Amino acid sequence: MDGNDEPILGHTKLDILKQARPAFFNPAMLPWTPWVMEGTNFKLLNFDKKTGGFTILLKVDPDLDTPVHSHLGAVEGIVLEGEFGYDDDRGGVGSYFYEEAATRHQPDSPTGTIMFAVVHGPIVGHDEDGGVAGVVDARLMYELAAANGAADHLAHLADFPS
Ligand SMILES: [Fe+2]
Repeated sequence: MDGNDEPILGHTKLDILKQARPAFFNPAMLPWTPWVMEGTNFKLLNFDKKTGGFTILLKVDPDLDTPVHSHLGAVEGIVLEGEFGYDDDRGGVGSYFYEEAATRHQPDSPTGTIMFAVVHGPIVGHDEDGGVAGVVDARLMYELAAANGAADHLAHLADFPS
């Protein structure tokens, strides 16, 4: 190097590649959509057809009698209001949570809660005999939100088989 060379980083000229759609979206624009059990509502922010996963804001009323459910993929998120948990494993506002794939459990939330959650695979709800009461996947979430007029921002992703 003779001292006149530009710094290595200075040689790299990269074009800015702007995404086709805005990166930002304000979920306050969306109505809450009733979820699969009474007292729970969601706003669908994104979904993944390949995994069946989805990203939501979830609002849970206080003291619901929630069913046991299993996770086919992990779930991670942040508690935004209230608190919830599983026995003594609990978190309040600002807590990050990670629920492992293949977990089966029954949450409770005496205060009610609002959380941001990234659900990496379908959720299976169980009946009292341990059977499958329902499967919540990306398609169901989209269909519920769309029926409530709360999925226009995701219509470009919704080419599900019909
Ligand atoms: Fe869970």
